[in-house]
Amino acid sequence: MAAHVLSLGLDSQNNQENGNFPCESGMEKAYEKKYRELLPTLPIGKGWMTEHVVQYQGFWLMPDLSLKPLWWIHDEFKVQPTDIFLASAPKTGTTWLKALIFATINRTHYDFSTSTHPLLNSNPHECVPFLDTYPLQSQETFSGLDSLPSPRLLATHFPLSLLPESMVSSTSGCKFVYICRDPKDVLISNLFFFNKFRSEELGPLSLEEAFELFCQGVSHVGPYWDHVLEYWKWSLQNPEKILFLKYEELKKEPLVVVKRLAEFLGQPFSLEEERNGVVQEIIKLCSFRNLSNLEVNKTKTYKYTKDVVANNNLYFRKGETGDSNNHLSHEMMEHIDKIFQEKLSGSGLSFGA
Ligand code: A3P
Repeated sequence: MAAHVLSLGLDSQNNQENGNFPCESGMEKAYEKKYRELLPTLPIGKGWMTEHVVQYQGFWLMPDLSLKPLWWIHDEFKVQPTDIFLASAPKTGTTWLKALIFATINRTHYDFSTSTHPLLNSNPHECVPFLDTYPLQSQETFSGLDSLPSPRLLATHFPLSLLPESMVSSTSGCKFVYICRDPKDVLISNLFFFNKFRSEELGPLSLEEAFELFCQGVSHVGPYWDHVLEYWKWSLQNPEKILFLKYEELKKEPLVVVKRLAEFLGQPFSLEEERNGVVQEIIKLCSFRNLSNLEVNKTKTYKYTKDVVANNNLYFRKGETGDSNNHLSHEMMEHIDKIFQEKLSGSGLSFGA
């Protein structure tokens, strides 16, 4: 069964005791009543990072980190027609794509060959902030985002159907780039990542538990198949609004994909840029080998929220396709492939099984 019947107050209580519950801010206060009333009514599942996730409008979310920010985004975030949103489920290549989009859009502003390029001194998550956790970082309004240079580059893990109409309407002008990845690799990458954040009391999630949960659709912003399918179908209907990418394609043909990305974002590479190897420079700058070896990504941290801080090196594990082969049994892999074949059947989308 997907949902575990557990005491609902527990997550918040433990987090408060551990100092993990975001302090009272304008946002916290504004939605406290709604949160307290809604929470006991939502189905509960076992969490990968926190003890629980809750099912909200069909998707599993970490309540403390997601619900109030989502409502705040709906009520307060003002989209700009030039905004570029990077959408993804966790561990599908978000960090890499953030770096590639940032480097592509800002290619005339920074010199790749000098140490002043922001991507050499900051983690990609600092260069392209998450809209989702911004309200928890800033504790106040979105006004800090207004000072970002245009086009603003922002990221979200939220499913398409949970986003406000202002962001997704065809008249809003803004654009989306979505990245997805083979589900088996997503499962393994999630397991390694989220286990680093689990408290001692919870202990690590086992591979078997993670596999069961993932196959039931219970993972942050999951079911993963629904997350992917919503954006996929939208990309078929609105190819000028959203570019749909796969991690595996980016690995195989980075040159082709980065050129497509620049074109989609309205900044195609000129012949001169291509002749001068600018596309290759961007790919080299954003490569796993380069980014993972930078001092900033080896030793510094990224602050998701006031209380959730991640070592930057956690965003760079192996950076390969097919690492799930090293962790999942043949039966497990077949089972996941079968689920996704069924779920994606008739959509025109598939993951190379
Ligand atoms: P693995 O855990 O399989 O190594 P996200 O950025 O969405 O959190 O995804 C993280 C995954 O992308 C991790 O996968 C990470 O190693 C990989 N990754 C990070 N930077 C990368 C890069 N520059 N090139 C390729 N893969 C990268």
